[in-house]
Amino acid sequence: MRGRVVLGVSGGIAAFRAVEVLRGLIKAGCRVHTILTENATHFVAPRTFAVLSNEGAEVSLWSDPTSPGVDHVTLGRESDLLLVVPATANIIAKMAAGIADDALTTYALAHRRRVMIAPAMNTSMWRQPAIEQAVAALKQRGAIVVGPVFGFLAEGEIGEGKLAPVDEIVGAALAALPLRGPLAGVRVLITAGPTREPIDTVRVITNRSSGRMGVALALAARDLGAEVRLLAGPGVSAPSGVPMERFETAADLGRLLGRRAPEADAVWHAAAVADFRPTSVAAGKLDRRQGGLQLALQPVPDLAAAMPRVQGRPYLVIFAAERATDLEARAAKKMSEKAADAVVANPIDEPGLGMESARNRAVVLTRLGVRREFVAQDKEPLARELVLTLAGEIVANRRR
Ligand SMILES: Cc1cc2nc3c(=O)[nH]c(=O)nc-3n(C[C@H](O)[C@H](O)[C@H](O)COP(=O)(O)O)c2cc1C
Repeated sequence: MRGRVVLGVSGGIAAFRAVEVLRGLIKAGCRVHTILTENATHFVAPRTFAVLSNEGAEVSLWSDPTSPGVDHVTLGRESDLLLVVPATANIIAKMAAGIADDALTTYALAHRRRVMIAPAMNTSMWRQPAIEQAVAALKQRGAIVVGPVFGFLAEGEIGEGKLAPVDEIVGAALAALPLRGPLAGVRVLITAGPTREPIDTVRVITNRSSGRMGVALALAARDLGAEVRLLAGPGVSAPSGVPMERFETAADLGRLLGRRAPEADAVWHAAAVADFRPTSVAAGKLDRRQGGLQLALQPVPDLAAAMPRVQGRPYLVIFAAERATDLEARAAKKMSEKAADAVVANPIDEPGLGMESARNRAVVLTRLGVRREFVAQDKEPLARELVLTLAGEIVANRRR
């Protein structure tokens, strides 16, 4: 279990987004108990939260006449995070003032751990000194405030007050939870996406990698408790809540690896790094009118083989995209040539799998002799399986 969250939902128009936040938290392995304000039930039904979380979703302190009525105190001791989505102006002011006149605000007073709010309201309410002061007071007491952001508001205006994107709220919530899971406290560095090698000022040589597998690995490792850092190539969409640095060329990535790999316990090198780059880069824009063009290319140094490593750390996982026919033999050869600890082999010539597609199949081989095969599936569940498969070796390697 990734963590225990109490999701508070108050009565704003963005309340329906709290359902998506709940789903994101459940998917990441959290247990979520929901408490809604009476006003929130005008927008969303408690049953939706109860069914999706398979846990209680309450509105009132008094609904069960046989209950001793102190559940909020127990819950307050056990949960890691109180996350209020959306946080209305009203609940922000009440929480800041210590008012406890319904189930959610009473719970908020009993809660002992982290508090996070995602405010959403129109710009004039957000700019009210009373609300600004309440937000400042909550922050000063350690609450994390996610958003709001600038955008189209429910009343048709454009301004600041829109609920932060769901991914951002989920990412921030997961980052605020204590690290739990098989990779708790393990520092994982992941590379993802293509490189771009310049031909002239505007043109590049690149490849078809989307970075989706690397991003899926980053999220899977994070959900299993790891402290993740992502090195992402051009066009890779940034997952929120994961620290990320961008690279463009193989040389950029080499420099980032030189800096970050020694800090990591494991590196998953999923980026599709160029094998060749132009020998020289033309200044300006090459002109077609000058006629045909021959590009001279030189090999790019092998980044995996040159990975900075001290006493067997980091545990190095490489990826081998190879022909299906001799997939495993080639992957095993690559693993030993690059002194990697594990290789994830996947075919390049099976339709609908691999680069540019949402699905992949893989065989994992490790230096210690593990072999596991994964059938074709979406990259996200595959990433989780891959991380779970190697978690044991990664943790053991770290302790050596
Ligand atoms: C249609 C409608 C939409 C509303 N949207 C918001 C909102 O986005 N943010 C907000 O702070 N208040 C909003 N309100 C006002 C709150 O519902 C009202 O202040 C209420 O007392 C909040 O109660 P609660 O904080 O206990 O849920 C809205 C009211 C209505 C009728």
